[in-house]
Amino acid sequence: MITGKGITKTYRQRGGILGKRTVQALRGVDFAIEKGGAVSFIGESGCGKSTLGRIIAGLETYDSGEIIIDGVPMSALSRRRRWPYFRRIQLIHQDPYSALNPTRTIYQTLQAPLALRARRTRRPRSWVDERAEELLSLVGLDPGYVLPRYPHQLSGGMRQRVVIARALTVDPDVLVADEAVSMIDVSLRLGILDLLKDLRERLGVGVLFITHDIATARYLGENGELYVLYRGEVVERGPTEQVIARPVHPYTQALLSAVPVLRGREVASDQRVIPTEPLDERKAGTGCLFAPRCPFATDRCRSEHPTLARFEGSGQWHACFLPRPRSVIPVEVPG
Ligand SMILES: Nc1ncnc2c1ncn2[C@@H]1O[C@H](COP(=O)(O)OP(=O)(O)OP(=O)(O)O)[C@@H](O)[C@H]1O
Ligand code: SF4
Ligand SMILES: [Mg+2]
Repeated sequence: MITGKGITKTYRQRGGILGKRTVQALRGVDFAIEKGGAVSFIGESGCGKSTLGRIIAGLETYDSGEIIIDGVPMSALSRRRRWPYFRRIQLIHQDPYSALNPTRTIYQTLQAPLALRARRTRRPRSWVDERAEELLSLVGLDPGYVLPRYPHQLSGGMRQRVVIARALTVDPDVLVADEAVSMIDVSLRLGILDLLKDLRERLGVGVLFITHDIATARYLGENGELYVLYRGEVVERGPTEQVIARPVHPYTQALLSAVPVLRGREVASDQRVIPTEPLDERKAGTGCLFAPRCPFATDRCRSEHPTLARFEGSGQWHACFLPRPRSVIPVEVPG
């Protein structure tokens, strides 16, 4: 179980006509990921999804808050003692091209972490080769074909499968998949998504999906928890299917209202929510961060900051003074 409490992260950015500026990438985020669970983070570009993913995988520091893994607060440990905990959380990057060393064969790529494990656990040398073949078969690749090849000799989909096999060499508890299919040919995407689903079911490995695509979150997050981020804050969370079918926060509703309508097969819902203006990260008052764009904003919204509260009678949580369920995704044409 990985829990995050009040995680904040600020970046200092240089350059541009405005000179130096600070970006609050995360503003006090709470989350929980169970072993074998499916959690998705969605939200538009720049809302802090990848920053949070990297923090969860131990690849990024945070300013304040706490990450607790299996009951152990990470801040209480030295960097060296933290490492075995974070090693069990493996990040699958969106770009399998840059994730693999082009000068190494796939065998060399898998052999390195496996040999380390074999030494630590006193396994025979033959285990390394057997395990490499086993892992490649598990991710749907033919070991005989793939092992002697270099990354550039494989397709994007095959490369991403190799990246997943490499992540599995350490028997992780959780895979963090950050836009894991966005750079892969459309025809190969479903296969990778199915593989991640399958690994969750077969190995009991938890999966954290980071995506801006609602359809992907819906497909992979089945029976899981969906977190909606807006400018570094969680504005709504709850069971994936429930949040998508009946969002209560206006920002979630606006995000879902942008789902395209399939001509001839669906009609646009009459409950859609359209933001009153485009996102401007510089606008920040004391109130709700979505207030400048929210069609329902009141004076209270502009001066007071809403915190997460449970929506009565459902498993959903929202940070809004005026939560109201709306069904906004396209509605199927009957018959
Ligand atoms: N290393 C960095 N240095 C400076 N600013 C950063 C850095 N990483 C992220 N940021 C800023 O922090 C904010 C959140 O970025 P992040 O990459 O987490 O967003 P995201 O939700 O993953 O977006 P996308 O959907 O485009 O991948 C953005 O404003 C981004 O510019
Ligand atoms: S708190 Fe107010 S401004 Fe913010 S999302 Fe809710 S209604 Fe809109
Ligand atoms: Mg990102």
